[in-house]
Amino acid sequence: MAPSQKKNSLASRVYLSQLMQPEHANNHGNVHGGWIMKLVDEAGALACMRHAQTRVVTVAVDSLVFREPIKIGDLVTFTAEVTYTGRTSMEAEVQVIAENPITGERTHTNTAYLVYVGLDDANNPTSIPQLVAETEEETARLEKAKQRQQRRIANK
Ligand SMILES: CC(C)(COP(=O)(O)OP(=O)(O)OC[C@H]1O[C@@H](n2cnc3c(N)ncnc32)[C@H](O)[C@@H]1OP(=O)(O)O)[C@@H](O)C(=O)NCCC(=O)NCCS
Repeated sequence: MAPSQKKNSLASRVYLSQLMQPEHANNHGNVHGGWIMKLVDEAGALACMRHAQTRVVTVAVDSLVFREPIKIGDLVTFTAEVTYTGRTSMEAEVQVIAENPITGERTHTNTAYLVYVGLDDANNPTSIPQLVAETEEETARLEKAKQRQQRRIANK
């Protein structure tokens, strides 16, 4: 798709699910946060690749707060979509839900925001399609995302 074209956030939505196995454990027997951070980054990058249809690199990760421990045996689902676009950069929101597959109990453990840059074949930042907001809710979400990006740039 040409960078001049517009895309909505649904077009980039990605679901990534992974069963947490013993190799994902920390010393307390719960899931090691590093695994979650890796999968958050992968889900965000996939949403941005889907949006931009280019390779992407991570340029910024906002603070990650783990609200609840994730247990070994949980099925963790990462839902990622693009929430902001600049000229070459885009923000992805990644929601993390841990589910006990036996009881069906689901816990929202994180929401993360990450910024990626689309790259051309020479590894230079390249322009990407713009995100279009189609509902009032999406317009409000896009405005909040713009403000987050302005704060990141101001804090650089
Ligand atoms: C990402 C990278 C290519 C950007 O290069 P650069 O020379 O800084 O390019 P620019 O200054 O033109 O910035 C590119 C975009 O990133 C944005 N950006 C740069 N630093 C940022 C930051 N700290 N937070 C948010 N956005 C940032 C810029 O605002 C610009 O966005 P825009 O084009 O939408 O306006 C370069 O910094 C890089 O290669 N970083 C390493 C990436 C990496 O290895 N990641 C980990 C492994 S994936």
